[in-house]
Amino acid sequence: MIRVLFVCLGNICRSPLAEAILNSKVELVGMQSQFKCDSAGTSDFHIGELPDERTIKCASKYNLPLNHRSRQVNRTDFRDFDYILAMDDNNLRNLNNLKIRYGFADKEIHLMRNFVAKTQGMSVPDPYYGGEEGFEEIYQILDEAIDSFLAQVKATHQLYA
Ligand code: 4NP
Repeated sequence: MIRVLFVCLGNICRSPLAEAILNSKVELVGMQSQFKCDSAGTSDFHIGELPDERTIKCASKYNLPLNHRSRQVNRTDFRDFDYILAMDDNNLRNLNNLKIRYGFADKEIHLMRNFVAKTQGMSVPDPYYGGEEGFEEIYQILDEAIDSFLAQVKATHQLYA
């Protein structure tokens, strides 16, 4: 079982959408039993809330079920997830500080877009203060990045549907 945690700031825009996209891709190839996927935020701003209404609208456009309430990253996440994927540099920096504080200094945290060779080092931009077009943009970015992530994980762990 490969356990994947997507992390952004609020856990109401980027990371719940990423979680829904990965779940959908995994289901499409019948690999549900081989993946566990979740998302969380580095902040406590929206704990307990449903995804942003623009996230919900974007997910429904692509027929992606969203079943998530915002939660904050916690200590056990560093133990319980094989892959922790940060959406931007801020998230990455916060996670790298937390992992040291929580005693998981060796845990590698990945930047989401590093799985696509041509977008290494780039962020999944925070769409919160922008318009609806920002959500279409993050959908396209995440769709591509998650395809690459899945391909690499399948190869690394020799997973077959
Ligand atoms: P997310 O977007 O990190 O992709 O969920 C944001 C959601 C809320 C805020 C910022 C970004 N906020 O400042 O409340």
